[in-house]
Amino acid sequence: MSHKKQIKITDTTFRDGHQSLFATRMTTEDMLPIAEKMDSIGFYSMEVWGGATFDVATRFLNEDPWERISLLKERMPNTRLQMLLRGQNLVGYRHYADDVVEAFVEKAAETGIDIFRVFDAVNDERNFITTFKSIKKAGKHIQGGLSYALTERRLGGPIYNLAYYIDKARRIEDMGADSFVIKDMAGIISPYDAFDLVSALKQSITIPVHLHTHYTSGMASMALLKAIEAGVDGVDTSVAAFSMRSSQPSIEPLIVTLQDTPYDLGLELESFTEINKYLEGIIPEYIPFADNTRFSTIDIGVLMHQIPGGMISNLVGQLLQARALHRINEVYEEIPRTRKEMGYPPLVTPTSQIIGVQAVMNVLAGRYKMVSREVKDYFYGLYGKPPAAVDEEVRKKVLKGYERGEEPINTRPADILEPELPKAREALRGISDRMEDILIYALYPMTGLDFIKKSIEAQTIADLENRAA
Ligand code: CO
Repeated sequence: MSHKKQIKITDTTFRDGHQSLFATRMTTEDMLPIAEKMDSIGFYSMEVWGGATFDVATRFLNEDPWERISLLKERMPNTRLQMLLRGQNLVGYRHYADDVVEAFVEKAAETGIDIFRVFDAVNDERNFITTFKSIKKAGKHIQGGLSYALTERRLGGPIYNLAYYIDKARRIEDMGADSFVIKDMAGIISPYDAFDLVSALKQSITIPVHLHTHYTSGMASMALLKAIEAGVDGVDTSVAAFSMRSSQPSIEPLIVTLQDTPYDLGLELESFTEINKYLEGIIPEYIPFADNTRFSTIDIGVLMHQIPGGMISNLVGQLLQARALHRINEVYEEIPRTRKEMGYPPLVTPTSQIIGVQAVMNVLAGRYKMVSREVKDYFYGLYGKPPAAVDEEVRKKVLKGYERGEEPINTRPADILEPELPKAREALRGISDRMEDILIYALYPMTGLDFIKKSIEAQTIADLENRAA
């Protein structure tokens, strides 16, 4: 117990916490009253933006996502604000052209994001090139990540083994990342695998190593502890009220667990009483968005199938719509088959949705009789290079008659995309020329445009009322 190690804590309450538990519905208004208290805790960083928050704010909350960062920044000057960026997909579901990526990162940095956690759904590092360059240019922190995936219950096997992660992590370090994160979005990293992986990473790369996992399978708190013993530099937690279940492990038990050890966090347990009291007070309005289908806080299905909970609820919704819920077991069997044919991509947004939708169509309509547009794009190479080779027969079938061509590309996907900002500017001519709005439109042309029009209307009405008053 001689050498003390300061573990960096990233709090996820304002992003992954409510994204995981309450379908991303927490409003800025509900964050502000507790923001200063959160800022006083002494977290290394707080993840407050990105992931699904941008889409949900414009689509469901009628809230300007850019304003959220400005308002939080004002109240939290002492804590690094962090966002989750889906590489070239930004906060959307497809690859955007480089001009959109550059402008988005520049605007996010200018508005207040300090740390950009970047990942790619197929772990193709070419999809980091533009984001890394843009983050560096803005003078901000690049946290490069790998989506943690498995093909069996434990680390190993032909694809997702130690060598795979070490090789990819080295590439990310070589590309200029300031830190590295294992991004276990499904909560499937088991404690001893976390120990082995972190130990190997600490021997292979020099930048700090962070671990992001979810409590979903019930292993996360144990995984954090083993990762800390193996020398991890930072871990993600959430405040108790927004933790556990499919969210992050909670910070409070970790504080006591590590007290008087070389990893003592030095955080005041008492400070969390007020925060939890406040959060418990707002939870009732979010309960309708919580998963209340079971009492258990642990999803043993994830332990068995390594399929993220969010993906399962999407499948159920899709099957219900087709009045075919009774075929769910066939879909469970189909998913690994479809995933194998697609080169074993990690099950993370957007690949989890793409595989899920296709697996359902394969069951209902016959294998690859109906193929989604995204699956065609995927086999063409528009999402990047999958971790393993795709099935040649399936690829031929899927790309038959595909408008971009029947032969897949080998380049970085964004290399074949035309600049997209000019078109977005044009579409918003006479409506708005704010870069914030142009980016919202470029990301989501349909729902984004609705949102921009609505917020301009609301602003006009407010202005008129002010004038009248
Ligand atoms: Co997460």
